[in-house]
Amino acid sequence: MPEYTINNIGTHVVTQGTGPPLLLVHGFPLDHTMWSGQVDHFAASHTVIAPDLRGFGQSEVTDDPVTMQTYADDLAALLDAMGITEPVHFCGLSMGGYIAWAFVEHHRDRLASLILCDTRATADNSAAQKTRELTAQRVLKEGPDFLASGLIDKLFVKQTREQQPEIIEQTKEVIRSTDPRTVAAASRAMAARPDVTTRLPAIDVPTLIIVGEHDAISPPSEMREIADAMPTATYVEIPNAGHMAPLECPEQVNAAIEQFLCR
Ligand code: MLT
Repeated sequence: MPEYTINNIGTHVVTQGTGPPLLLVHGFPLDHTMWSGQVDHFAASHTVIAPDLRGFGQSEVTDDPVTMQTYADDLAALLDAMGITEPVHFCGLSMGGYIAWAFVEHHRDRLASLILCDTRATADNSAAQKTRELTAQRVLKEGPDFLASGLIDKLFVKQTREQQPEIIEQTKEVIRSTDPRTVAAASRAMAARPDVTTRLPAIDVPTLIIVGEHDAISPPSEMREIADAMPTATYVEIPNAGHMAPLECPEQVNAAIEQFLCR
């Protein structure tokens, strides 16, 4: 059930714990449940805020087009609605990281730190943009089932697929239940996102870069380049993990985040 009305959209958010705010922003086409390995853990020391972005999970679906800035502005408005004025630790995975770049640009004063998991700083090339548009058109015609089967191998390493079938099923179910209009709007928004590589050296927020050793979507080589370009960044690679490192290897990811937050 949505708890807040944010920019006219009923927005579902899980909040737990007390302490400095830790905002967990999910990837595409997922929802807050991808942070199941982090919420309880960090609620012992932080106010954990894990929303479903507009249209995803249990948040209300809209027909409006979106950009990464739309999602970033929604998150700032959510913090306002929750009465959170203290700067937040913004932790985003993949699309959540694309949103983080927009948050840095438009809401810098609300940030205590950035935790960027398995994400990219470059924009889509024209081939990737075409694929996103085909995905948008197909999902509107057929629904999201094809995505659930097609994405799993890219999101998770073989070891996770073999040894943790429950998180694979959970993720497939989330993808299958995501409204086609939300998937299409987010695909088009990701295709239109800007390249932020030239902005990286000027980002002055303490930043942790986390990447799964075998991430097939945002590989370590690319995330290492992001870290190298950011004077404020620390880089951590998670062994035996893929694109969904926080869900695949929560203990290692939590240890890295904890060390960063307690620095
Ligand atoms: C995600 O996990 O959010 C997606 O892989 C991002 C993307 O498709 O670029």
